[in-house]
Amino acid sequence: MAIINRIADLHDEITGWRRDFHENPELLYDVHRTAGIVEKKLKEFGCDEVVPGIGQTGVVAVIKGRKNGSGKVIGLRADMDALPIEEATNAPYKSKIPGKMHACGHDGHTAMLLGAAKYLAETRNFDGTAIIIFQPAEEGGGGGDAMVKDGLMERWGIQEVYGMHNMPGIPVGHFAVRKGPSMAAADRFIIDIEGKGGHGAMPHLCVDPVQAGFAIGLAMQTVVSRNVDPIESAVISITSVKAGEAFNVIPQTLRMLGTVRTFKPEVQDLVEARMKELAENVAKGMGCTAKVDYQRGYPVTFNHADQTDFAVKVAKAVVGDDKVDAETPPLMGAEDFSYMLNQRPGCYIFVGNGDTAACHHPAYDFDDSAIPAGTSYWAKLVETAMPT
Ligand code: NI
Repeated sequence: MAIINRIADLHDEITGWRRDFHENPELLYDVHRTAGIVEKKLKEFGCDEVVPGIGQTGVVAVIKGRKNGSGKVIGLRADMDALPIEEATNAPYKSKIPGKMHACGHDGHTAMLLGAAKYLAETRNFDGTAIIIFQPAEEGGGGGDAMVKDGLMERWGIQEVYGMHNMPGIPVGHFAVRKGPSMAAADRFIIDIEGKGGHGAMPHLCVDPVQAGFAIGLAMQTVVSRNVDPIESAVISITSVKAGEAFNVIPQTLRMLGTVRTFKPEVQDLVEARMKELAENVAKGMGCTAKVDYQRGYPVTFNHADQTDFAVKVAKAVVGDDKVDAETPPLMGAEDFSYMLNQRPGCYIFVGNGDTAACHHPAYDFDDSAIPAGTSYWAKLVETAMPT
């Protein structure tokens, strides 16, 4: 394995940071302790600029290369937040905060990127600028989007952006990635149907929203089977239906909730448009009205072709050709780094976490032996993208 020697030397120090973050997990935007440590260390490393408070509690550092003639600016991003889960490991550095734990390895991501920042600030063996990005609120809070909205890309002139996540089930010292859609878009919807309530024995005097709801529910399933290209994938699941309380009353309204998962923005747009058309028009045909509140969640995590080829090349240089899977299948989970990839070309890669419990499981733990590969990947990515 072509781990950078200096990074191998930093392994114990980076492990110490990781375990400290693990003992002190924080949720969503409330990552004040973690962000404070990150900011302090980045300043100690001698970064050219360290700015806290981007996207509420995000931290950004600038490291200029020994040469700065290429004009290239590359962003590297890690996430800092934990999850509201009670930890069920026996680790000596187990969470000290009841009901909170680093069950997704963001402690490892933060520590590895800090390690890379230390190495890059020390060596500066590149021609250009590295922007080191630590984001809050990946776990459902849209912290990546908040940093983008705070002007992250424009303020530092970021041209390409890269992310990394550990993955249980992939051996330590291996990487996995794919071009194009890598993780799904996760949307939710609320459909409110209004009719005219009345006596259950006198339906002719009512307009029944329950029958309209049944018809809309069936019609929705034709979106995937009849409108979406059969080669593509999409899921529409109606997961909650509520209307009325009594045996003999036709209710005035019906509400249904559900989730939509897609992998391509054009499929997502199509599903949203067809759901609205069907719900509104089927309801109208039955004398009711329907309102669809379609709420977009995290967008599709889309890896750009050239940057993915580049990430594969860098990963292979670190761990060897046979330890990089460049065609790993897409996942139905969603990821907040997608907001950054919608702004700039880049790539989101998985680093192996070995045979551990799955992410978001109470027995999950980041594997510290993955640190040299992850940290070397970051360093080598900067040195290869911007050679001196
Ligand atoms: Ni995660």
